[in-house]
Amino acid sequence: MIKVIGINKSYGTAAILQNISFDISDGQIVALFGPNGCGKTTLLKIIAGLDKQDSGEIKQLNKSDDSDLSAGLVFQDHRFSLLPWMTIRGNIELALISRVKSKPEREEKVNQIINRLNLGKHQYKYPYQVSGGLSQLSAFGRALALNPDIYLFDEPFSALDYQSALKLQQQFLALWEKDKKSTIIVTHSIDEAILLADQIIIFSGLPAKILDIISNNIPRPRSLEQLGGDLSQRIRQKIISIAQSFLI
Ligand SMILES: Nc1ncnc2c1ncn2[C@@H]1O[C@H](COP(=O)(O)OP(=O)(O)OP(=O)(O)O)[C@@H](O)[C@H]1O
Ligand SMILES: [Mg+2]
Repeated sequence: MIKVIGINKSYGTAAILQNISFDISDGQIVALFGPNGCGKTTLLKIIAGLDKQDSGEIKQLNKSDDSDLSAGLVFQDHRFSLLPWMTIRGNIELALISRVKSKPEREEKVNQIINRLNLGKHQYKYPYQVSGGLSQLSAFGRALALNPDIYLFDEPFSALDYQSALKLQQQFLALWEKDKKSTIIVTHSIDEAILLADQIIIFSGLPAKILDIISNNIPRPRSLEQLGGDLSQRIRQKIISIAQSFLI
């Protein structure tokens, strides 16, 4: 389990995050939902160790050693997800370089990931030569290669058209079903949160506080059809009423 405990963060005099606490059980997907600029990316950066909180801590329980939490990040914009001067294959291999020193062993691991993601046909292309969806899929491949403690996905589908986003969400769910890694995903889409997450955390505007944490017990594996069901409708209604409360 990963515990986010009482995180406070300011930039200069501007308070951004206020007392943010929640738990991510092993293998859970947690969605962060909240208005622009409320600090969702800041929170991901703090969890990834790329930014420092003013107070509070991120704790990983049951870890066998005392190493830092490792995170596999995927960013919002597919144009920035990969290094543009490296092929898809090169980008995935790069994630393995510090962990797998032997070149043949590394090649084998890259092959496994490429096969798992069905990227064989595209592996020697450069990011600009593939669609945004394939680029993000390759970014998932890089996160997969890192084999981190947690995936941190910052709006990974939001720069894609509706159909590409749907396809990539299904691909992500199929990948996740295999190794059920703890995941935090930032989204502005209620349906995406309902389809993917076990818990949906709703943030207020600045300074961001947690307004509510909604459990999503829709059985897995999930399909798009379930988005039309009664349980989905109840969750959707709840999110909308909370979101409306901070419009005023
Ligand atoms: N390095 C920084 N220095 C100063 N202010 C920053 C810095 N990074 C972010 N901010 C400010 O902190 C606030 C939160 O930014 P953040 O990017 O975390 O929001 P967000 O919830 O991810 O927004 P969005 O939904 O638009 O992606 C914003 O007001 C932003 O301008
Ligand atoms: Mg953001």
